[in-house]
Amino acid sequence: MTDQTTTNSGRSLTAIVLAAGKGTRMRSDLPKVLHEVAGRTMLGHVLAAAQGAGATRIAVVVEPGQASVAREIAALAPGAAVYPQAERLGTAHAVLAARAALAAGADDVVIAFGDTPLITAATLTRLRAPLAQGCTVAVLAFETPNPKGYGRVLVRDGRVTAIREEKDATEAERAVTLCNAGLMALSGRHALDLLARIGNANAAGEYYLPDAVALAVSDGLAVAVVDVAEAEAQGVNDRVQLSVAEAAIQGRLRHAAQVAGATLIAPETVFFSHDTVLGRDVVVEPHVVFGPRVRVGDGCVIHAFSHLEGATLADGVGIGPYARLRPGAVLETGARVGNFVEIKNARLEAGAKANHLTYIGDAVVGAGANIGAGTITCNYDGVNKHRTTIGAGAFIGSNTALVAPVGVGAGAIVGAGSVITADVPDGAIAVARGRQRILAGAAEGKRAKLQAEKAARTKAS
Ligand code: UD1
Ligand code: CA
Repeated sequence: MTDQTTTNSGRSLTAIVLAAGKGTRMRSDLPKVLHEVAGRTMLGHVLAAAQGAGATRIAVVVEPGQASVAREIAALAPGAAVYPQAERLGTAHAVLAARAALAAGADDVVIAFGDTPLITAATLTRLRAPLAQGCTVAVLAFETPNPKGYGRVLVRDGRVTAIREEKDATEAERAVTLCNAGLMALSGRHALDLLARIGNANAAGEYYLPDAVALAVSDGLAVAVVDVAEAEAQGVNDRVQLSVAEAAIQGRLRHAAQVAGATLIAPETVFFSHDTVLGRDVVVEPHVVFGPRVRVGDGCVIHAFSHLEGATLADGVGIGPYARLRPGAVLETGARVGNFVEIKNARLEAGAKANHLTYIGDAVVGAGANIGAGTITCNYDGVNKHRTTIGAGAFIGSNTALVAPVGVGAGAIVGAGSVITADVPDGAIAVARGRQRILAGAAEGKRAKLQAEKAARTKAS
């Protein structure tokens, strides 16, 4: 369910992502563009959109001194170049911080913002398309009844003439409802020349990227307008807008999951990660949370209130209600994990079952093995983690503690309530608990003694 990759035209594309700025309104120690939406940073979403639109070169303009942003870029777009913008003098100034990337040449240049995580590869592909038709600038724009704050796209005789920032607009220009979404595509041949000619003689004293439009028009070059939904171009400046972006992306992920053949009984209660992969005929019951790196095979059922992260489910697996799968959980075909069962870094082979109240960590559970209620792998001695191996077809009785490192052989049986500290051979029975004693007829005497003692205490007080 990652962003749809659309075909590109074979033309080279440089994407410049503007990500400078302190993001003060987030009130956060984390740089704004590293805040996450659906388990991926906002910057990660924009980089993925740029890659999906066929970017052959990516340049990111960053706030100086944000090493964590540089690390994120290196991880997600290893070939990308990072350019610090020393002073925040406007969007055109920011693009020119990446002058070297522009000078390297490309057929098309697309400029995106690191804080607009909803933008899709498909939209960037549509935005650059007019360049292949001979346009020099393509502006992304939307109509809105509430244009306040946006740059207005000015049109005369059906042709775009300029973009006017709110601060610089006349009363009549402010009445215009066609707004600049901010993102823009420029012909690589003209980009540097246009950007270098943008001045800062305006109300904000900033170098405005949208001024490229009026310059292109005065040069007699063609400018196109590409429409986008206002919501898709929304920037995130604070945590309220962050939650709005999260809701929008969740909506997309839920829709994509359903279209791809999963049944979501109450989609609005299911939360996906950007990279969740569901097979066909998966049923997801209400209130399920998918963290990053989850793959679910065909025909699985995820019962209500389950939480999954870094887990791989083969076909026909059932989990929950109230299952917790942590990173490294691998459930092979037909495995079954029931209520209040936690699995971490452990493989349940085909048809293995752990149906109730169990913790399995750092373990392999062989095919068809049955793990009784309350079984715990004691994988941690306070310093090191140790492994537990359970053979195919083994039966672990309820409330067993498996003190790792330890192994239970194939087909073995472990008696309920055992504390297993040594390996159990294949086919053996192991019982490791206090032996039961029977004192025939002793109950009545015991009860009389307890009652007499209680009466003596009541009298004394
Ligand atoms: C911009 C557009 C406006 C459009 C609006 C849509 C300009 C001058 N105006 O305004 O026409 O309607 O987007 O939301 O472009 N940035 C830098 N360095 C800078 C300045 C900005 O990296 O010196 C980055 C910001 O981090 C942000 C992006 O560029 O990601 C846009 O900047 P912002 O200040 O939000 O522009 P707007 O005022 O919203
Ligand atoms: Ca903005």
